[in-house]
Amino acid sequence: MIWNKQNPYLAEIISAKLLSGKNSNKEIMHYKISLGDSKIKYNPGDSLGVIPLNNHQLVTDIIIRLGYSPLNIVEGYDKTIFELLESQFEILSPTNRFIAYINENIHHTELNKIIKNQDKTLLSQFKYGKSVLDFLNLDSKFNIDLKIFLSLLKPLQHRAYSISSSLLKYPKEVHLTVSTQRWEKSSQKYGGVCSTFLADNCYQGTRIKVFLIPNRNFRLPVDHDKPIIMIGPGTGIAPFIAFLQERTQLKSHGKNWLFYGAQFRKTDHIYENELIYFQDNKVLDKLDIAFSRDQEKKIYVQDKIYEVKSEFFKWIKEGAYLYVCGDAINMAKDVNSILQKIIQEQLNCSEDKSILYIKNLKKEKRYLLDVY
Ligand SMILES: Cc1cc2nc3c(=O)[nH]c(=O)nc-3n(C[C@H](O)[C@H](O)[C@H](O)COP(=O)(O)OP(=O)(O)OC[C@H]3O[C@@H](n4cnc5c(N)ncnc54)[C@H](O)[C@@H]3O)c2cc1C
Ligand SMILES: NC(=O)c1ccc[n+]([C@@H]2O[C@H](COP(=O)([O-])OP(=O)(O)OC[C@H]3O[C@@H](n4cnc5c(N)ncnc54)[C@H](OP(=O)(O)O)[C@@H]3O)[C@@H](O)[C@H]2O)c1
Repeated sequence: MIWNKQNPYLAEIISAKLLSGKNSNKEIMHYKISLGDSKIKYNPGDSLGVIPLNNHQLVTDIIIRLGYSPLNIVEGYDKTIFELLESQFEILSPTNRFIAYINENIHHTELNKIIKNQDKTLLSQFKYGKSVLDFLNLDSKFNIDLKIFLSLLKPLQHRAYSISSSLLKYPKEVHLTVSTQRWEKSSQKYGGVCSTFLADNCYQGTRIKVFLIPNRNFRLPVDHDKPIIMIGPGTGIAPFIAFLQERTQLKSHGKNWLFYGAQFRKTDHIYENELIYFQDNKVLDKLDIAFSRDQEKKIYVQDKIYEVKSEFFKWIKEGAYLYVCGDAINMAKDVNSILQKIIQEQLNCSEDKSILYIKNLKKEKRYLLDVY
C-alpha cells in the first residue's frame, strides 16, 4: 500500500511525553507513533506529515457565530457543517481573500484604512495572532452566507515534522519532537492547529493520519566514516537525535559534533539523558549548547560556533558535512553569516571568496539545510 497525503496511514500513538521543564516558556512534546503493519520505511532526515483535526471549541464557536446548527448538512458537500469545519478547512488562520471580503463588507476604521493604503506591514501586524473567528467578530452585525464563507477558506493542510528516531533502533516506530504553539491575545487563548491537536487530543492509543515526507537532501553521508557537524537549536535538534541513533546502531566511525540551543538550562535542556548516552558511548564527540537566557547577554548557537572557529573550520577542511535544522527566518541566516565570517577569517580571503566557498560546500552536498 502506498501511503500519502491523499491516502494517509492511520497510525497509533504509543506515547506522548512532555520534554520541556515545568516552568519553561516552551511546551515541547515527544511523540512515539507506531508504524504497525504500514511497512513505512523512513531514513533519518525525513519528515512525517500529520493531518490534524481542528479544535472542537473553535469549530463550535464559528458555527454559532454563523448562525447554524452543527448538524446542518451543507448542500453540495454531503457532510454536516461540523464535520466540514473540523476536517476540511483551515479555520484558524484567515486567508487574504477572506480578509478582503470582510473588509469590503464591514465598517472597521482600522482595517478599512490599512487595506485602502495597501500597507502590508500594518496588515500583517493587524492579522498577527487573529483567527478567522476574530475577523468574523470585527463587526457583530456582519453576516455571511455559509457557501461564500467556505469558498473563502483554504483546505486544511497537513503539517510536517522532522523525524527524531532511527528505524534501526526503533523498528516500526516513528518519533516526533513538537513545539506546541500557544498564544494569548486580549485574554483569548489560541493554539496552532496541528501542534495543539497533537498535544490536547492525542494520547496512548489515539489514531492519527500520517504519511512519510522523504527528504533526500538531508541525509547522513553515505560514507559512515565522514565527520558531521549538526546545528539545531529548539526543535531543530529533532533530526539529529535520529542521526545519532542511526550512527550508534551502524557503529559508524565518523565523528559527530552537535550545536544545540535553548533558552534556559534548567527548563529547556531537552534530550539531556540521550545526549549523555551518546557521549558516554563515544558517538557524540563534541557537544556545544547555547543557553540563550542563562546570562544577561544572549548566547546563540552561532556564538558558540564562533568561540571554537579554528576547530570548526578544521572539521570542515577534513570533509565534515554541515547540517542546519530549525528556524529559517533568523537562525539559519545568522548561522550562514557566521560560517561566512569564519571562512573569511580562516582563509584570510574576501567576502566573495567566502561566498564561493559556501556555494561549493552546497554543490558538494556538504552544507545541508532543513529549515522552516
Ligand atoms: C520540513 C519541516 C519540518 C518541521 N519540523 C518540525 C519539528 O520537528 N518540530 C516542530 O515543532 N515543528 C516543525 N515544523 C513546523 C510544523 O510543520 C508546524 O508549522 C508547526 O507545528 C506549527 O503548526 P500548527 O498547525 O501548530 O500551527 P498553525 O495552525 O499553522 O499556526 C501557525 C500560525 O499561528 C500564528 N502564531 C503562532 N504562534 C503565535 C504567537 N505566539 N502569537 C501570535 N500568533 C502566533 C502564526 O500566525 C502562525 O502562522 C516543521 C516544518 C517543516 C516545513
Ligand atoms: N517549532 C515550531 O513549531 C516552529 C514552526 C515555525 C516557526 N517557528 C519559529 O522558529 C523560531 C524557533 O522556534 P523553535 O521552537 O524551534 O526554537 P526556540 O525554542 O524558540 O529557540 C531555540 C533557541 O534558539 C534561540 N534563538 C532565537 N533566535 C535565534 C537566532 N537568530 N539564531 C540562533 N538562535 C536563536 C532562542 O533564543 P531566545 O528565545 O532566547 O531568543 C533559543 O535559545 C521561533 O521564532 C518560532 O516562532 C517555530
